[in-house]
Amino acid sequence: MAVRTVLRLGDPLLRRQACPVTAFGTPGLRALVDDLRDTMAARDGAGLAAPQIAVPLQVVIFGITRNPRYPDAAPIAETVLINPLITPIGTERDGGWEGCLSVPGLRGLVPRWRRIHYRAHDLEGGVIERSVEGFHARVVQHECDHLDGVLFPDRLEDPRAFGFLEELHTSGQLPGADPAAES
Ligand code: NI
Repeated sequence: MAVRTVLRLGDPLLRRQACPVTAFGTPGLRALVDDLRDTMAARDGAGLAAPQIAVPLQVVIFGITRNPRYPDAAPIAETVLINPLITPIGTERDGGWEGCLSVPGLRGLVPRWRRIHYRAHDLEGGVIERSVEGFHARVVQHECDHLDGVLFPDRLEDPRAFGFLEELHTSGQLPGADPAAES
């Protein structure tokens, strides 16, 4: 187990397409998930994807407990998704402020599907299927984008709705209670 370096926007390794995992429950896969968990916790993140620690595999982790930083965000149990597949439910999209551990200190207003279904494998190869909405749906879409080499600034509809967290707070554009986690 180890806290790994999180790559930052500009590193070409963040832009690679991640490969599917083909063997489950292996020591190597367990070690990767342990490192993702430790790194996410050390950085107080809401989620982390393997490409962010320079591992080009389709593995993400996310989860939030009650946290004073995100008082309006409902808790999400820690979840590991391997080879995830997202299907939107309906056509509604919502804008929400997002951050990313690979884009530290910045937030942007990003549209995402309001409701999604996702299907993935767990660490042992079992199937996880859930229909979710709101912040949970947002976090999963953000993390799975990392597996395609996509970062949230790519998704901005208005490039002016993007800036440093401190400045957005000071100017009142980003309310203090907004669950704008980095992930
Ligand atoms: Ni991210």
